[in-house]
Amino acid sequence: MTIQNNGNLKIAIQKKGRLTEKSLELFNLCGLRVENYGDRLVVATPGFPADILFLRDDDIPEYVQDGVADLGVIGENVLVEKEAQVVELENLGFGGCQLMMAYPEYMDIQLPQELNGKRIATSYPRIVKKYLQDNNIQAKVIEISGSVEIAPALGIADVICDIVSTGNTLMVNKLKKGQVIFKSQAVLIASPELEKDLRKTEILNDFLRRIRSVQAARSSKYLMLNLPKTAVDRTIGLIPALRSPTIVPLADDEMVAIHAVIPSDYIWEIVDKLKREGASGILLLPIENMIP
Ligand code: PRP
Ligand code: ZN
Repeated sequence: MTIQNNGNLKIAIQKKGRLTEKSLELFNLCGLRVENYGDRLVVATPGFPADILFLRDDDIPEYVQDGVADLGVIGENVLVEKEAQVVELENLGFGGCQLMMAYPEYMDIQLPQELNGKRIATSYPRIVKKYLQDNNIQAKVIEISGSVEIAPALGIADVICDIVSTGNTLMVNKLKKGQVIFKSQAVLIASPELEKDLRKTEILNDFLRRIRSVQAARSSKYLMLNLPKTAVDRTIGLIPALRSPTIVPLADDEMVAIHAVIPSDYIWEIVDKLKREGASGILLLPIENMIP
């Protein structure tokens, strides 16, 4: 594959699959607009010196290793399976899934040892073989590159080991969940060659800063509420996550408005405490970006 070298950062993402939409959503929040990509292989991002490459996810580690793409967004599952020489830069916090054994509904397998003698269809032969070895299981691994879930029905395998996210694929194919052998999420990887290119390294650093500000924003919410003046000191003391809030006077001089950035994880706990202190008009807003 030849891609024109125009000095732009080349970022590879999955062409069509679980990670495509989420990757583009992250890029958009980072100010990299990708529009009307349709069936195109390469798309420029207006206003940012990057080109997005749409590739089969299985091919991304190798393309990044060889420097055809400078960066890639890929599931750790594919990354580990392909054993490519790339630099892992950042966990992206989406695309969570599990690589797990799955059995036809009629099969009764409780313990890993019961896989002895079975034929296991998978797209992840390396990870599966390592699991079998580590657990001293003698089973036959059958490598299939796609639609692994139909292998038992076709009679070419007894069980499968595949990626499960929502569980829909298993359900539709009348398969039930077994042992989880690997947990994965989307990661950003870089070519080992990238650091030699100063200009691209600069673009990468800008991109990373943007990603981190989006990640920080995702884990926070903007809280606005009204509170009786008399409750302000006590309330702020009660809720450590309510660090240095902005306190705004209101027309009703018994009341003030409070604005603060709070961690998403504590929202309901904080809101309940605030209500008990007499808070009203509570609004929680998403934050798009948090620039350090
Ligand atoms: C995995 C797996 C299933 C699907 C499971 O494919 O092979 O097809 O996801 O998801 P579900 O539990 O939500 O139904 P993946 O997206 O990794 O893509 P690929 O195997 O086609 O590359
Ligand atoms: Zn794939």
